[in-house]
Amino acid sequence: MKVLAINGSPRKGGNIAQCLDVMAKEFAREGIEFEVVQPGAKVHPCMACYHCLDNGTLRCVQKDDGVNDVIAKCIEADGILLASPVYHGGIAGGMKCVLDRLFLAAGCGDNQLHHKVGAALCTLRRSGGMETYQQLLGVMDAMEMVIVTSDYWGAVHGADPGEVQNDTEGLEVVAKLARNMAWMLKVINAAKGTIDPPETHKRTFTNFIR
Ligand SMILES: Cc1cc2nc3c(=O)[nH]c(=O)nc-3n(C[C@H](O)[C@H](O)[C@H](O)COP(=O)(O)O)c2cc1C
Repeated sequence: MKVLAINGSPRKGGNIAQCLDVMAKEFAREGIEFEVVQPGAKVHPCMACYHCLDNGTLRCVQKDDGVNDVIAKCIEADGILLASPVYHGGIAGGMKCVLDRLFLAAGCGDNQLHHKVGAALCTLRRSGGMETYQQLLGVMDAMEMVIVTSDYWGAVHGADPGEVQNDTEGLEVVAKLARNMAWMLKVINAAKGTIDPPETHKRTFTNFIR
């Protein structure tokens, strides 16, 4: 079983990376494979061309920034962890670009993400943690994913790289988040063939106009 984490920070070794290191140790202890991808800031926004839905390839037409690799890895993974720094009270710009394209290409047509285990976390200097955490959860919520929580909201405090190490409670929250994700993955895996997920079906898009 594998969890794929998307680190939405453009900084290498920053606070998100350090939270993910904490989680990596927990996943290793639980025997869960864990991979982190960090698309960075040079990713394109969604162009709203809808080709990803029309051609059924589960890919974005923009092929030069690595986002299609992220989409493919998410489709393959059993669990997805969305991790973003707070930028001006919301998801960091590069991460938002990735999420718009990932969840349109892989989730909005023939949904490849349903019943995957999902979780979120953000890091921040001071304010905007709740908004960002809720935004991250919101995309997974609309994709019929099984959202896992910890014993507090996923917002860890730190400005300069490494400052999250001083947020003892925040790091405990993310460690517990990893353990809960691992547990849910094992529960779902153990239930396979006995308690299978309900059948899913395509949504009827009504667009609020009729
Ligand atoms: C453009 C920008 C906007 C930011 N906006 C906020 C903000 O609204 N609230 C906040 O508490 N921190 C804000 N921060 C601080 C980052 O969220 C914080 O340093 C975070 O831990 C960075 O994670 P990283 O080290 O993984 O990049 C901002 C940082 C940048 C670069």
